[in-house]
Amino acid sequence: MNLENLFLKRQSTREYGAKPVSDKDLLEICRLAKLAPSAINSQPYRLYAVNGAKAKEFAKNVQLMGSNKWASDCPAFIVIEQGKPPILERLGQKITKTEFVPIDIGILAAYITLAAENMGIQTCILGMRDEKGIAEFLGLATETKFPLVIAVGYAAEGYPVREKTRKPFADTVKLIK
Ligand SMILES: Cc1cc2nc3c(=O)[nH]c(=O)nc-3n(C[C@H](O)[C@H](O)[C@H](O)COP(=O)(O)O)c2cc1C
Repeated sequence: MNLENLFLKRQSTREYGAKPVSDKDLLEICRLAKLAPSAINSQPYRLYAVNGAKAKEFAKNVQLMGSNKWASDCPAFIVIEQGKPPILERLGQKITKTEFVPIDIGILAAYITLAAENMGIQTCILGMRDEKGIAEFLGLATETKFPLVIAVGYAAEGYPVREKTRKPFADTVKLIK
């Protein structure tokens, strides 16, 4: 798909149809997303592709305080586990006073959503999640960080592609020459 069309078509989808996502496609999205850049190529994350009956069980972990009710009908999720940056990156973070790991994870999330949309599969990035619940679900230590979860599935029939609402170009972009 043409890149601009892909950017326009990718949207936060909050109503999914019954069609399941195959394990193969879910893993292919992860494979493509792993091509994302990261600070010193540290790739400080791990992905968990949750599908089928397990996804139904998982949904409650992205419904913190009554949010994301629609996620109950979402057929799959990709969970991003935050890893520890290597020593060189920690040094860079200290010098620049910048946390690169969340930036890396944001870029990864963007790659996931665009890779999926290019395969005709819709997504929604989810920040409203219960990290303790996710850790328990995955059998990992309680303090493990899961900064983002991505809902993955096929949009319900007739779900409209919304027009993008973005701040005016002139307010956000300045050409310096
Ligand atoms: C870090 C982050 C967290 C988000 N968390 C949620 C969420 O918990 N639930 C939800 O429905 N949308 C969530 N969104 C989706 C945004 O609301 C959405 O990207 C934004 O409104 C722009 O709309 P679009 O994605 O359709 O272009 C999140 C997006 C980002 C980048």
